[in-house]
Amino acid sequence: MNTKDRAIAAFEAQFGRAPSAIIFAPGRVNLIGEHTDYNDGFVLPMAIQYGTYLAIAPRDDSQFCAVAADFDGQVDSFALDDAIVPNPQISWSAHIRGIAHSYRQRGLALSGINVAIAGDVPAGAGLSSSASLGVGLSVALAHVSGQNTLTATDHALIAQQSENAFVGTACGIMDQLVSARAEAGAALMIDCRSLETTPVTMPNDLSVLIVHSGVERELADSAYNERREQCENVAKAMNVPALRDINIEQLEAAQNKIPDIAFRRARHVVTENARTLAAAQAFKDGNHQQLGELMGQSHLSMRDDFAITTPKVDALVALLQQAIGKHGGARMTGGGFGGCVVAIMPQSLLPSIMQHVETHYQTPKGAKPLMIAATPSSGADLLS
Ligand code: GLA
Repeated sequence: MNTKDRAIAAFEAQFGRAPSAIIFAPGRVNLIGEHTDYNDGFVLPMAIQYGTYLAIAPRDDSQFCAVAADFDGQVDSFALDDAIVPNPQISWSAHIRGIAHSYRQRGLALSGINVAIAGDVPAGAGLSSSASLGVGLSVALAHVSGQNTLTATDHALIAQQSENAFVGTACGIMDQLVSARAEAGAALMIDCRSLETTPVTMPNDLSVLIVHSGVERELADSAYNERREQCENVAKAMNVPALRDINIEQLEAAQNKIPDIAFRRARHVVTENARTLAAAQAFKDGNHQQLGELMGQSHLSMRDDFAITTPKVDALVALLQQAIGKHGGARMTGGGFGGCVVAIMPQSLLPSIMQHVETHYQTPKGAKPLMIAATPSSGADLLS
């Protein structure tokens, strides 16, 4: 059964009737621009064909009732009139209740909803399964509550607020914004300060391959928050609102005032911003070689300055880079400490590169890696 049908089947099993609408919100892969979003910088992600499906219907009362197809039909139910707090018995509860809580914080009226959820983004892979769930739920709540004036950007901000305030991850806006605003056939250039987004059409002959290293993203949250704090401290020390506001010359001129580790973290962000702008142009121009070089530099910067890769991920990136050569490139994607690698190459090379990875890479558990030939997909929307 496909994921959409699993959501519908879970809805019918729980609520004894058909859903009135289906929503899909995509996961994403980031092509370049890592850990730049919370520094007010630039990112170039693209929404993928995998994501979260939500089968929904309004209720007559003010109850929020969610059933998770991926957790054996486990149910989380709560009253929208009461104080909204997470249910410690249910591991995914904060992701659901956090969205209702964000609506509340914004003074938006809520109506009761039945929702069944099924997703096909592998969890913990760094492909934004939780952002797609958050954005999808925000769209679902708007639909049943008649909040028709909320924009895609509002849904992204609501979902980010839920992650920050309720789930407890200090994430930036990239994942939610691309899940909400992506356009089919294009990557999305995001200015994370103005939240302006520009679709960058994917050249016809380009393939984007995602390979899951199989390395679990352990301790990723605390390391993420630590990196974020280090970046913010450098911005403070340099008297600017965010690292977005300085270039590499300014940073180097201040090197003696900044502790070495913090300097290297900031150098990653400042150079990554410049690489992301250059990569968007190379992507648009179909300049695979230049895009590949920028991705290679991005990976080295994540490895040496930002210290968020792992040896196994480095080895997978090197394997891909060797096989692809000057025809494209590869780098780790997402928050880091494991998860996925993204590679770009001409379409004609895709089958042989996938074969090469399958032959030469094993996950830490000795298995073949999960590979996804990614299709640039559109942002969250009602399907019916
Ligand atoms: C996670 C966060 C994003 C972003 C990336 C790193 O995916 O949710 O906001 O910071 O890490 O680029």
